[in-house]
Amino acid sequence: MYPGDTSKDAVDWKAAQGQHVTAVRRNILVLGSGGREHALSWKLAQSEGAKVFVAPGNAGTSEIATNVNIKVGDFEGIKKFCLDNEISLLVVGPEQPLVDGIVDFFRGDEALRKVRVIGPDSIGAQLEGSKAYAKEFMARNGIPTARCLTVNQANLNDGVAFLKSLQPPYVLKADGLAAGKGVLILDSLDEAVSELGNMLGGKFGSASATVVIEEFLKGIECSVFVLTDGEHYLLLPEAKDYKRIGDGDTGLNTGGMGAVSPVPFCTPAFLQKVEGRIVRPTLKGLKAEDVDYKGFIFLGLMNCGGDPYVIEYNVRMGDPETEAVMTRIEGDFANMLYACADGCLDKVHYAKSDKTAVTVMLVSGGYPEAYQKGKLMTGFNQLNGCVAFHAGTSLDNDGQVVTAGGRVIAVTALGHSITEAREKAYENVAKIKFEGEKHRSDIGLDLL
Ligand code: AMP
Ligand code: GLY
Repeated sequence: MYPGDTSKDAVDWKAAQGQHVTAVRRNILVLGSGGREHALSWKLAQSEGAKVFVAPGNAGTSEIATNVNIKVGDFEGIKKFCLDNEISLLVVGPEQPLVDGIVDFFRGDEALRKVRVIGPDSIGAQLEGSKAYAKEFMARNGIPTARCLTVNQANLNDGVAFLKSLQPPYVLKADGLAAGKGVLILDSLDEAVSELGNMLGGKFGSASATVVIEEFLKGIECSVFVLTDGEHYLLLPEAKDYKRIGDGDTGLNTGGMGAVSPVPFCTPAFLQKVEGRIVRPTLKGLKAEDVDYKGFIFLGLMNCGGDPYVIEYNVRMGDPETEAVMTRIEGDFANMLYACADGCLDKVHYAKSDKTAVTVMLVSGGYPEAYQKGKLMTGFNQLNGCVAFHAGTSLDNDGQVVTAGGRVIAVTALGHSITEAREKAYENVAKIKFEGEKHRSDIGLDLL
């Protein structure tokens, strides 16, 4: 309960002595329009008393929530909607509004102060918004990560010398947000030196005016998700993401072609190391540096021989990992997020399902390069034993679902094993049809 909040939806968790209290009015606004936001709003809509709005949403979110035609960057429009509709919780899906300061905007506005917001302030969002900031944060807080050097035009020579000191392959990262494309991994030193020049020269616009050069880490990647209220935290189900377009991890990088949760190599011993070496030092560092962080922390990790290293921080949930993770969270998700915003995550009931979730992404032909939109989609009424989260869809003038993005639908199924979940997911994938449809057929195979 925020000081001075006397509205009828205020929840006094402390007075509840560990019991959850259902707020009277749980009007929730989710920002975003992808599969992640469909999964978040799908889970929230199952909470008692929750009324969920999604801005701007997609054809899938319109079935389980109310879509609102406001862009995620339109802070004034979001403010007006929140006040007009008594929104008590704002859940920010993508990183851009967080990096652009939506939390600071809400906290700094008298009328908006009682709206709870899930996400860090703009300083905390720099963990994702600036790779150089994230690396310095990790160095200050003793968090294991690859050795690195931050380079700009002024110390280009140091950058070249650092590259020469490393073994191939060479990792170059644009400092700023570059729509997931700002990382280059190069086999030859000549190529690395030349690409370093290109990046500093504007290859990714202003995002690569500063570049982080990193030592290459050998291992297996996984995504670990944390929900924190700044003091306490919950470890959400972890997941493995499949980034390349083609089977066997071949071809171009994408936003993500599928996910599996849980991840067999994330053993209890490994997760204990993640908590001790990464999660707790990260939260301690954020607190010591006075960062207002009530929200999700997505740890992109490399498991190197059983030891976790941070490859990247994201300040939001992953996509398509969320489409797998949400199906394994047991308990009232709205309760969890209200408690997160109110600083009493230690008081909520939360459990993970023992089942395995497999998510397969259906994408438009041509993706991640140029693709067409507006293709009619069929087969939804034949789905059975899965959830089809919409990633890039919209309704045409006749109210029919059509494609509206590169990543189109994320089909998630649960099973008692990866094999069972895969079978159910792929059985349903085969039923959804649209011109040019593509998907990977090997999601989860490497984990068997
Ligand atoms: P990022 O945007 O930082 O997640 O990087 C994109 C991808 O590049 C990661 O998912 C990894 O597969 C790879 N990558 C990034 N940094 C490293 C590193 N230091 N060593 C090995 N692979 C890396
Ligand atoms: N699936 C990776 C991401 O959301 O960044």
